[in-house]
Amino acid sequence: MPNPLPTAWFNGRFLPLGDISVSPLDRGFLFGDGIYEVIPAYGGRLFRFDAHLARLRYSLGEARLDDPYSPAQWREVLQGVADRNGGGNLSVYLQVTRGAADMRDHRFPSGVSPTVFAMASPLAPMPQQVLDEGVTCITCEDIRWRRCDIKTISLLGNVLLRQQAEDAGAAETILLMGGCATEGSASTLFIVDAAGTVCTPPKDKRLLPGITRDLVLELARDGGLAVAEREIRETELRGAGEIWLASSTREVVAVTSLDNQPVGDGRPGTMWRRVWHLFQDYKQTLIAA
Ligand code: PDD
Repeated sequence: MPNPLPTAWFNGRFLPLGDISVSPLDRGFLFGDGIYEVIPAYGGRLFRFDAHLARLRYSLGEARLDDPYSPAQWREVLQGVADRNGGGNLSVYLQVTRGAADMRDHRFPSGVSPTVFAMASPLAPMPQQVLDEGVTCITCEDIRWRRCDIKTISLLGNVLLRQQAEDAGAAETILLMGGCATEGSASTLFIVDAAGTVCTPPKDKRLLPGITRDLVLELARDGGLAVAEREIRETELRGAGEIWLASSTREVVAVTSLDNQPVGDGRPGTMWRRVWHLFQDYKQTLIAA
C-alpha cells in the first residue's frame, strides 16, 4: 500500500514521495551506511524533539557522518514535513546516508554529500484490544552487532528478530544477551520487579537509548513510583509481575504473555495502567500548549 502521506523531503526540497528516486550507488542502498530517527508528532507538534535531535547527532557522530543541518534547520525540515502532511498524529521518519559515490568501495568516499530524506506516516492510535489485553511476546538470543546504541539503517538483525515474533503470532521479540534481557527488536524493555520497582536496563552499547524510555522513567518517577536503571536477568524477566515495551510508535504497552506463559495474572498490570494514563496526560498538555 502506498504511503498515504505524500509529501517528503529529499536533499533540500519538499517533493511528492513518488517523485523521489535514489541512486543505486547510494551507500545507504549498498552498505546500509546511514542513520535514522523516528519522531512522533501529536496534534502536528513534534514530540520530545530536542531529545530526538540529540540522539540523531550522537548517531551521526558515532557513524562519522557530518550533520548536514543545524538544529533550527532540522526543526524547519521536519516540522515542514509534518505540516505538509496535514499535521495531526504522525510518525516522522528521517534518514541520512553517506551519499552516492561513483563506485562501490567500503572506504568513506571523498567529496560526496550525504543523502537526506524525511517523510511522515499516520500514527495510528493503539487498538483498544491492545490496551485491554496487552500483547504477546517471544524471546530470542540477540544476533545483532555490538553497537546497538547507534540508530543505524543497517537493520537486518532487527528485521529478522521482529519477523520471528510475527511468525509466532506475537507482537515483539524480547532480546537476550549473556543471560540478561536488553530490549525489544524495535522497543525498550521495562519490568516491574518483585519489590514493585519499574526497571529498565542501563544505557550501553547493547541497546538503543530510547526517547520514550526516558519519558516513561521521568513520568513514573514524578508519579511517585520507584524506578531503577539496572540489569534484568532472564530469570527475573520470566518471573516479572509486569513487562512493558515502549517506543515512539507504540508509546507504552503491556506484555501479558511471554513465550506462551502468562505475565503476572495475564492482564495488563496496575502499574502499567498508571504510567499509560500519565503518558496520555503528558501528551495532552503538549497538544494543548
Ligand atoms: N524504533 N530499541 C530499538 C531497537 C528500537 O528500534 C526502538 C525504536 C526503540 C525505542 O526507541 P524510541 O523510544 O526512541 O522510539 C528501542 C523505532 C520506533 C523504529 O525503528 O521504527
